[in-house]
Amino acid sequence: MKNFYVKAESGEYPIYINDSFKGLSEAFEKAGLFGRKACIICDTNTKKLYLDDIINAVGDNFLSVCTACFEAGEERKNLDTIYYFYKVMKENRLDRKSVVIALGGGVVGDMAGFAAATYMRGISYVQIPTTLLSQVDSSVGGKTGVDFLGNKNLIGAFYQPSFVFMNSSTLKTLPYREVAAGMAEVIKHGYIIDRDYLNMLFERKNEIKALESDAIREVLYGSCKAKSYVVSQDEKETGLREILNFGHTFGHAVEGLLGFKLLHGECVAVGIMAALHISLERGVISERDYAAARELMTFFELPTKVGGLDCEDIYRQMFMDKKTKNNIITLVLLKEIGRAYRDDSVGSDEIKRAARAILEE
Ligand SMILES: NC(=O)c1ccc[n+]([C@@H]2O[C@H](COP(=O)([O-])OP(=O)(O)OC[C@H]3O[C@@H](n4cnc5c(N)ncnc54)[C@H](O)[C@@H]3O)[C@@H](O)[C@H]2O)c1
Ligand SMILES: [Zn+2]
Repeated sequence: MKNFYVKAESGEYPIYINDSFKGLSEAFEKAGLFGRKACIICDTNTKKLYLDDIINAVGDNFLSVCTACFEAGEERKNLDTIYYFYKVMKENRLDRKSVVIALGGGVVGDMAGFAAATYMRGISYVQIPTTLLSQVDSSVGGKTGVDFLGNKNLIGAFYQPSFVFMNSSTLKTLPYREVAAGMAEVIKHGYIIDRDYLNMLFERKNEIKALESDAIREVLYGSCKAKSYVVSQDEKETGLREILNFGHTFGHAVEGLLGFKLLHGECVAVGIMAALHISLERGVISERDYAAARELMTFFELPTKVGGLDCEDIYRQMFMDKKTKNNIITLVLLKEIGRAYRDDSVGSDEIKRAARAILEE
């Protein structure tokens, strides 16, 4: 098992990385979370796959364990589901000392965190992320919340877990398309923060795709380190954290236009290619670097282009992004591979050329 600490303004908490649930019970003990009531929040998929494992691993740690399970999918990421969690928690008499356990992907984690942040003004919670995206992205950083009236994550809170425990073997049951979507964020971490990490992704791509335990551990460790480094510098998203948005301004535009067809991570992959196109034109990266990025995305079966749009659609849609303020498009670009910065003076022609570069012929 590999573990390290995430520093946040509001304190420090551990992330445990293992290839089984061994050590989970000890992690609860170490966090002082035992002898209390617990509520496991999961969705219909993670309930079927992992609920018994978790209860077997930690059932004895607690006075009682109840579960709140909802139908899997982003459609249920709303206040009705939170209402249902509160009801289960109240009926099972959870109190200020109780603990919420999030067992699932980002949808479970974001909602369980929000329920924990608000039930009795905040009780402890623990993340057991089971998708690659939630392991490398959503379980780190303390953002919790729900969608509201068609707006993603409009209602929420910053609230840090007591610890995060990831079992990499849960990825073996995840549909490959979801694994790939998580890889887009992983690749992003390499480009914005850590060139050595990016090189490792190129070198070990076969093992990563095969979900070999050693290589996946490197991925989980490298990405959690990268993301936690950024958020520990900037917990409430005032500056540095924005570099995590690399590929996302183009990506969100594509998602807004084609989101019914593509996963978030797939849009991010396309968005990264657009952002890299600007770096290519500016001479920050070479043709070879650009081609290598495209090959890496393709290797993981991520799209690098989209069809059925034109660059004006994408450009217009970029003004809808919630990070676009005062009609100025802010992009995250590379100073060099492994170092990113935000730039709000990118010309409209440059943006449109980048958008054209991600369109299928
Ligand atoms: N808090 C943050 O900082 C942050 C960052 C990025 C994304 N998010 C949020 O994360 C959510 C997306 O997360 P996600 O991609 O994990 O989606 P998800 O939680 O919906 O999981 C995707 C699908 O995989 C299933 N699943 C989960 N684990 C599985 C496993 N081990 N085996 C088989 N199936 C499994 C789920 O039931 C679901 O059907 C979005 O709501 C997004 O807003 C939050
Ligand atoms: Zn993302």
